[in-house]
Amino acid sequence: MAVREVLIHPDDRLREIAEPVSFPLSTKVKQIIEDMADTMYDAPGVGLAAPQIGVSLQIAVTDTLWRSSEVRHDPDNPGGSHELKVWINPEFLWKSDEMATWEEGCLSVPETFAEVTRPAAVRLRWFDMDGEAHEQDFDDFLAVALQHEFDHLLGKLFIDYLSPLKRKMITKKLKKLYK
Ligand code: NI
Repeated sequence: MAVREVLIHPDDRLREIAEPVSFPLSTKVKQIIEDMADTMYDAPGVGLAAPQIGVSLQIAVTDTLWRSSEVRHDPDNPGGSHELKVWINPEFLWKSDEMATWEEGCLSVPETFAEVTRPAAVRLRWFDMDGEAHEQDFDDFLAVALQHEFDHLLGKLFIDYLSPLKRKMITKKLKKLYK
């Protein structure tokens, strides 16, 4: 188990565009994915993208069931839950015109929550750890969580959707708290 340091905004590495992953996965990349899961569960968070631990690769992990239902993740079994999802080289094939507003937060923007409006449903193509391609539609909390996570792969944060003034205040607050 290796919990990695989560980068905090503002950090230039959170603004990099992540590189696609090639298959088969190297031992090093598999280790990174394990570390990402450990780091997410340790936080705890519902999702983590590789750039958040300073790795510029198109990988995200999520475990959203505890948020979207009564089921809770077992803290004695971090990373081993069947709810852990690994998303590699994700690409949205479609986004709905219908929008939905959810309150979002981010491990890289601590102690900050704000409402963000995004497409309510998405169709996604991604690869699993075996290099197998998947295509599926998502709505509800997972649609929002996936858009939030994959924004990280484009160097984007949820605070980018807020007004410049609000973003400035958040940046100022975090600089004070974490520098
Ligand atoms: Ni985030």
